[in-house]
Amino acid sequence: MSDRVSVLRTQLPAYNTITTKYEAELRQTAKRMTAPGKGLLAADESIGSCSKRFDPIGLENTEPNRQKYRALMLEAEGFEKYISGVILHDETVFQKATNGQTFPEYLTSKGVYPGIKTDLGLHDLEEGAPGEQMTEGLDGYIKRAQKYYKAGCRFCKWRNVYKIQNGTVSESAVRFNAETLARYAILSQKAGLVPIVEPEVMIDGTHDIDTCQRVSQHVWAEVAAALQRHGVIWEGCLLKPNMVVPGAESGKKATAEEVARYTVTTLARTMPPALVGVTFLSGGLSEVQASEYLNAINNVDIPRPWKLTFSYARGLQSSALKAWGGKDSGIPAGRRAFLHRAKMNSNAQLGKYNRAEDDKESQSLYVKGNSY
Ligand code: 13P
Repeated sequence: MSDRVSVLRTQLPAYNTITTKYEAELRQTAKRMTAPGKGLLAADESIGSCSKRFDPIGLENTEPNRQKYRALMLEAEGFEKYISGVILHDETVFQKATNGQTFPEYLTSKGVYPGIKTDLGLHDLEEGAPGEQMTEGLDGYIKRAQKYYKAGCRFCKWRNVYKIQNGTVSESAVRFNAETLARYAILSQKAGLVPIVEPEVMIDGTHDIDTCQRVSQHVWAEVAAALQRHGVIWEGCLLKPNMVVPGAESGKKATAEEVARYTVTTLARTMPPALVGVTFLSGGLSEVQASEYLNAINNVDIPRPWKLTFSYARGLQSSALKAWGGKDSGIPAGRRAFLHRAKMNSNAQLGKYNRAEDDKESQSLYVKGNSY
């Protein structure tokens, strides 16, 4: 054997995944989170983002009002039929539901997994192209993750964004963000939290669907390679990507079948079958589009070894927020609207969504440079 080969041999790790005492629990949690007919509610808007939600309904952004907003969805009767997990914001983890339990205790009693957004938000990526961003929050991460596990959380979410400009994203953004996501994922698994890895190729821009496909394939392949390099337990991990769509400012439209074909093809080229599930973000699509596209994704004629479901914020909460209007008298209408969306998306996860049962119209929820 040549020296070069023997050096390489000795460098191969003895195992190719991390070890954690939580491995069996991680596998079970990830599987249950993506059970048939179920998906996730992303109720993790930051305090600043709540202003963006509340301003249009004239509601002041105070701590009690944010508690009411969370309770509007989380205390809707029967939502656990469609929702297996809820991504919470740090503030909500330590707030109380109406019955006096903390929100994580209350959700757990309903058989719903409480989750937590563990990233600390977006900042300029100085070495990238202008406008590109990275995500902060890795310093002291394991301690924070352990604190959330103790508070009852069983999964977490971290979002990195990629902005298509001139048909591409910079290689520094692709690599730096992939490393960040992978490091977040293994540290979360060490602390017992199923990591939702969210590389979001933003809908912002004038690019066509082929460009979104090419960039998403490159980004997801780098993320998968980084997860593998860091030794993530694929069976206890979830991916939360964008769907592959034309840019919001391109003036171009794609059919649900085209979106499904592009999206599943891109996943198939980049993600191993050992990954448990893919929980899409709604990313500025209208509520109806988010359901229609998910349904098409679950019907497309391409091998799909992973569970394909929803993890929507705007796609599940927008009409509920409007119907509620921040008033106690609006709670029943708000909850009806939320349960309707949850049911539509549950049907879509099963590939049984019927457009005729859904709302007639649905507005685009696109916000330029959306942040949480
Ligand atoms: P949207 O469904 O509004 O894109 O939000 C998903 C998300 O990433 C929040 O966690």
